Amino acid sequence: MTTAGEQLQKKIEDKSAVIGIVGLGYVGLPLAVEFVDRGFKTVGIDLSAKKIESLQSGQNYIADIPENKWQSAFNSGLFIAQTDYKNGKDIDVFYICVPTPFTENKEPDISYILSAAESIQTVLRPGQLVILKSTTFPNTTEGFVLPVLNKSGLQAGSDYFLAFSPERIDPGNTKWHTGNTPIVVGGVTKACTSLSALVTRQIVDLVYEVSSPKVAEMEKLLENIFRSVNIALVNELAQMCDRMGGINVWEVIEAAGTKPFGFMPFWPGPGIGGHCILIDPYYLSWYAKAYDFHSDFIELAAKTNESMPFYVRDAIIREIAKAGVPLLRAKILILGVAFKKNVDDTRHSPAIRVMELLLQEGLTGLSYHDPFVPVLEVSGGHFSSVPLEAEILNQTDLVVVTTDHNQFDWDFISAHSKRIYDTRNATGKVAEKHNTIAVLGDGK
Ligand SMILES: NC(=O)c1ccc[n+]([C@@H]2O[C@H](COP(=O)([O-])OP(=O)(O)OC[C@H]3O[C@@H](n4cnc5c(N)ncnc54)[C@H](O)[C@@H]3O)[C@@H](O)[C@H]2O)c1
Repeated sequence: MTTAGEQLQKKIEDKSAVIGIVGLGYVGLPLAVEFVDRGFKTVGIDLSAKKIESLQSGQNYIADIPENKWQSAFNSGLFIAQTDYKNGKDIDVFYICVPTPFTENKEPDISYILSAAESIQTVLRPGQLVILKSTTFPNTTEGFVLPVLNKSGLQAGSDYFLAFSPERIDPGNTKWHTGNTPIVVGGVTKACTSLSALVTRQIVDLVYEVSSPKVAEMEKLLENIFRSVNIALVNELAQMCDRMGGINVWEVIEAAGTKPFGFMPFWPGPGIGGHCILIDPYYLSWYAKAYDFHSDFIELAAKTNESMPFYVRDAIIREIAKAGVPLLRAKILILGVAFKKNVDDTRHSPAIRVMELLLQEGLTGLSYHDPFVPVLEVSGGHFSSVPLEAEILNQTDLVVVTTDHNQFDWDFISAHSKRIYDTRNATGKVAEKHNTIAVLGDGK
């Protein structure tokens, strides 16, 4: 380890290291709060003036951070939020937590990472560590971030340090949180890896070191592709059960789940959404093409999962026909528009995709309810969450369950709804008592 590395190591160990978090969203802000909680001075940098103003006035906008934890971080005086890199040279460890979206044609967009790296480069000095956390394709750290940082004239591994360490936060998950979820780190050199592991261990119980950033980048993609492929498999089975009739896919998966080894249950649904499982597989399939390699698994899973909102649209149209209601006059209530249960995140939500497809068919009698999402824009139209009241349910021709938030009372919803199409098997045992409830993949 060089002197610069030893100095940084000492600062991390005695907690005098200043942590800089670039990008204060679903990943960055919880990370900042964790470091403050462990007594580190932490500087949060985000280009969104609105977010910074909110944080500076003590308002937290990430539902996953417990309010008391946020308040104590804010009141500690250890957290500074800013829109620029003022005093950036005082920061010892930079975490890059910026978005990695895809373009309309589903190609990776790493421009946010590059712009963050450009800004860090302007304040780079010996003894700093940069850890990229944004999910991305292999070789982003070494092939793209490293050359930008090297423009400073400093040498990675001796002057400054660079690593990739993917994020595993699962918003809404009450069992697995930052402290008890193992984290992988892979540095450009051994010193980069060990310094990254050291700083990560300040907030995480278990850190797993790998031999390079590329392994860490690929590992993260494997995690998400694993989910995408398995969800696609059960989505296909759900469609198959509907076609065959007489077999309920949910019962099948539950039964298979009793096997204590070699099986892990995944559940069907209206499609996948969020910032990860839908997008990340495309990062790898795009990258692999440069090697004349076409990833059939990734493409097939994407094809199946992205067809689900279309499948749900068709099922909705069938349910309305069964109700004997003229299609274009049907009143449809979409229940739950967040991309998964118990969160407020609507990015790439399959519920929104279903709404778009229904609007395209001219079904304008659409409304939605989501306790986490008060307002919503779909296909340029503005919607507000309607109250979940008996009267509203009574006036609705079809309730479509797209997100199964825990706070929904299925007995109440079933009792007051004329007809339900449930894409999450949320109505469960209640559905068995009502022949007006159809469940995706129930084989009825
Ligand atoms: N959300 C999750 O559950 C999750 C889980 C694991 C990994 N990830 C990955 O983590 C990364 C971040 O995701 P997120 O959900 O936190 O995104 P987000 O959109 O919630 O937050 C990103 C923030 O970065 C800011 N930003 C953009 N460019 C910037 C720049 N140059 N400098 C400073 N700030 C900038 C944005 O204003 C935004 O506030 C992505 O790569 C994502 O795939 C997300």
